[in-house]
Amino acid sequence: MLNRFSLNLSLTAAALVIISACTTTTQATLDKQVGLKEAYAGKFLIGATMNGTMVANNNDPKTKIVKQHFNAATMDNAFKWERFNPEPGIYSLDAPHNFAKFTNDNNITAIGHVLFWHSQTPDWVFKDAQGNLLSRDALLQRMRERAQFMARHFGDQIKIWDVVNEAIEDDGSWRKSLYNQIIGDDFIEQAFIIANEELPAGSTKIYNDYGMTRPGRVATVIKMVNDFKARGVPIDAIGVQGHWSMDEPTIADIDSNLSALAATGLPLHVTELDIDYLGREHFFSANVDLKKLVATPENNPYPDGNFPTDADIKLGKRYADIFNLFLKHHQNIDRVTFWGVTDADSWLNGWPVAGRTNYPLLFNSDASPKAALQMVIDVGLQH
Ligand code: G3I
Repeated sequence: MLNRFSLNLSLTAAALVIISACTTTTQATLDKQVGLKEAYAGKFLIGATMNGTMVANNNDPKTKIVKQHFNAATMDNAFKWERFNPEPGIYSLDAPHNFAKFTNDNNITAIGHVLFWHSQTPDWVFKDAQGNLLSRDALLQRMRERAQFMARHFGDQIKIWDVVNEAIEDDGSWRKSLYNQIIGDDFIEQAFIIANEELPAGSTKIYNDYGMTRPGRVATVIKMVNDFKARGVPIDAIGVQGHWSMDEPTIADIDSNLSALAATGLPLHVTELDIDYLGREHFFSANVDLKKLVATPENNPYPDGNFPTDADIKLGKRYADIFNLFLKHHQNIDRVTFWGVTDADSWLNGWPVAGRTNYPLLFNSDASPKAALQMVIDVGLQH
């Protein structure tokens, strides 16, 4: 049976098919379109990740999309330790400064991604000049210097930070990263204490992770946050990445996990939303070696960049269900950020199958809007 919402969606979808068949969307029409940020105004910020090319050029079509649709932005890679500070004393600051200026000039909330992550951290961070692993105190000092550097260079512009990324495994155990091995099980706690001492007062400090519907991880995150709050360890928000697919996780699963995480009393940030249209579950359940997966006609059905309209509408329906759920939880959600602007920018073209052409975002590779974009805007406008 169709409820009012699915009827609206069906009408929207039908209208889109007719419109796309009968008219050509002009640039003027696109420019007048209500932006995502307006559709969700008063509910939560709407963000996207940017890359170095986008922040270097105000006239890049993707940069224009960010200005029209988003009021929050994150750099995809530029602040990661490996990119930012690949060798001791060597810094790559052009993209970070361009990002800080772009967000500041355009009244866009800037998010720092990421202070401490086991991945994309160069080896030197964990070693002394002789190549031996650092002591706990020496690594904590190195982390403190990184936070100090960020505060000194970006403290005025970036007030929200992913402090620790992905430090908890699916089963809820601490990830045995080099941070954990050297510092111990209080690595996350120490990272938040350092961030709190070094970043400007009032900065929002986030614990950010993927798979935030997996029972083991969610239970540990909740336990950790409650423990931090009880002991006064400074943590301000929980980041739910949101790298989801068309079927997984179910809306019911996301719903109950958002409720459980919000019950800690911390606001939630959906930090890295995308929908893997081509799917991934069967690769994992088959327990195959992911490194050997290559694109084939079966797993890569639209290699030429032409995403069929019916597939676009299916994607839009999945996004609409997710955004309806976010609206249900809007009092606990401060921000929803897409991981990329257009399909061309997505990491999902390379994972878990190298060389697939995937369609996870709301804008096509050529920066034209998908039908799914309007479907997500419509959900916001209906509330
Ligand atoms: O820019 C170089 C290019 O010059 C080189 O030719 C090419 C060869 O591999 O690599 C390019 O850099 C790649 C970079 O993405 C830009 O595309 C790196 O190899 C690749 O490792 C890097 O992947 C990033 C990944 O994190 C690892 O840092 C993805 O872009 C980025 O979207 C992804 O984002 C992560 C979040 O930070 C944390 N949560 C999960 C999320 C998705 O994996």
